[in-house]
Amino acid sequence: MSVILTLILQSLVFAEPEFVEMNGLGRSAQEWKSRIIYQILTDRFDRTDGRNASCNLKNYCGGTFKGIQNHLDYIKALGMDAIWISPVVANTPGSYHGYHATNFYEINSNFGSAQELKDLVAACHQKDIWVMVDIVVNHVGDVNEDWSKITPFNKSEHYHPRCDIRDYNNQTQVEMCRLANLPDLNTENEEVISQLITWTRWLMTTFNLDGLRVDTIKHVGKPFWKRFVPAVPTYLLGETFDGSIPYIKGYTDIMPGQLHYPMYYTLLEVFGSKRSCYGLRNKVEEMNRSGIDVTLLGGFVSNHDNKRFLSINPDWNLMKSAYAFTLLAESIPLVYYGDEHAFKGGDDPNNREPMWTTGFKTDHQIFKFIAAVSKARKRIPISAKLVERWVDDQVYSFSRDKVMAVLTNVGSWSGDISRTITYHPFTPGDRIVDMVTGETMIVPRDGLRVTLKEGCPRVYVKP
Ligand SMILES: *[C@@H]1O[C@H](CO)[C@@H](O)[C@H](O)[C@H]1NC(C)=O
Ligand SMILES: *[C@@H]1O[C@H](CO)[C@@H](O)[C@H](O)[C@H]1NC(C)=O
Ligand SMILES: *[C@@H]1O[C@H](CO)[C@@H](O)[C@H](O)[C@H]1NC(C)=O
Ligand SMILES: *[C@@H]1O[C@H](CO)[C@@H](O)[C@H](O)[C@H]1NC(C)=O
Repeated sequence: MSVILTLILQSLVFAEPEFVEMNGLGRSAQEWKSRIIYQILTDRFDRTDGRNASCNLKNYCGGTFKGIQNHLDYIKALGMDAIWISPVVANTPGSYHGYHATNFYEINSNFGSAQELKDLVAACHQKDIWVMVDIVVNHVGDVNEDWSKITPFNKSEHYHPRCDIRDYNNQTQVEMCRLANLPDLNTENEEVISQLITWTRWLMTTFNLDGLRVDTIKHVGKPFWKRFVPAVPTYLLGETFDGSIPYIKGYTDIMPGQLHYPMYYTLLEVFGSKRSCYGLRNKVEEMNRSGIDVTLLGGFVSNHDNKRFLSINPDWNLMKSAYAFTLLAESIPLVYYGDEHAFKGGDDPNNREPMWTTGFKTDHQIFKFIAAVSKARKRIPISAKLVERWVDDQVYSFSRDKVMAVLTNVGSWSGDISRTITYHPFTPGDRIVDMVTGETMIVPRDGLRVTLKEGCPRVYVKP
């Protein structure tokens, strides 16, 4: 009897941590550090019927949850183990991107049913892919102030008095006025605050999500985020659309996960515009001095709000260097769908091309590059620090643990570029392999002679 009682008590004691975890929301920030996130615009990824339909980029093109579910093996083959999908809630007509909500508790029927969203998440989890959904708390869709059309924010006091953002340097306007003429939720109102928290928790638990991407952070006052962040204990990847480190720090102090806009602009300068590679060193050092924990930021090369990298500079090898940095540095890497097929759309909506035109082939040169570098990423312990190994105007090299990247901004048409790197993480006699080309070499005593053929970066690992 007492033995049985002891066993029961023991099992209760041991069950407790698991019980707590099951009641948590999704995955923690710490857990997300192990992931590589593939960013998908749900409407543009694939249709349920898989048809190669033509697409008016300003309206719905037919992509669905089921369309994503049909290509999880493709996503895995690229080396991705998490996806960020468009906002899932019901929207005003034509809002294919999902950022113009009408009913927060209804799923956008263009993308599928609530059950189909649950099925997508379950299918992802079966393949060890985590799911991050995009949410918007700053604004709702334009309903001509007929608030009865918005659930649950159906009273005028749920909104800020009407005004437009005219001056983006005026933080009061940025927070209190309308972005793109969209009704601005009164995120100082207690009812709005508690409804948004209740809804976000409902979304996470109902659909068994792993994390959230959070839109328009800088358009909502900091007091709101101080209430929201502790109430939604999961990894939140905020969009503070700004390259200034002090400005971003004002938000990382409250929500530590943010898109890494400061590094994004540096990657565009160094690899998009062939500016000096010292820019990378300087930004890495400035980030370190800022005290921001870069391991919780989301690094990226392209997204749906900016021109794709290849529309800024069409040279594939330059984009490869930008991606090698992003995939191997300390932040959580993001890959924007279609970059792996060399999509080159410019400003919104041209950067939101339908993915189905590619036939989801896995033999594209850039697909293979991203897959190979993602494999290298998986060899790096999450706590490994970035160590600079070389910098001059044209070449930047860094390592984390036993993975070393050598990048260049010279591009494809300047011939080969070589450096002898004596400060590296390997030991003379080690056999190392370049994940990009598969070439192996024995590490010599007098430094690594690295040749970047036609400006293509290299990523060495010790197998
Ligand atoms: C507003 O929403 C609440 C629930 O959130 C509902 O009880 C009420 O009937 C709605 N009022 C209008 C005018 O739609
Ligand atoms: C910022 O905008 C607000 C609201 O439009 C206005 O009242 C305020 O004077 C502006 N501040 C500055 C410094 O221009
Ligand atoms: C800055 O770099 C030092 C040396 O690697 C490291 O110990 C420290 O944690 C870094 N600071 C931040 C904020 O990452
Ligand atoms: C789909 O159609 C586009 C436009 O006609 C074409 O360029 C593309 O190759 C097609 N893709 C497939 C997979 O058939």
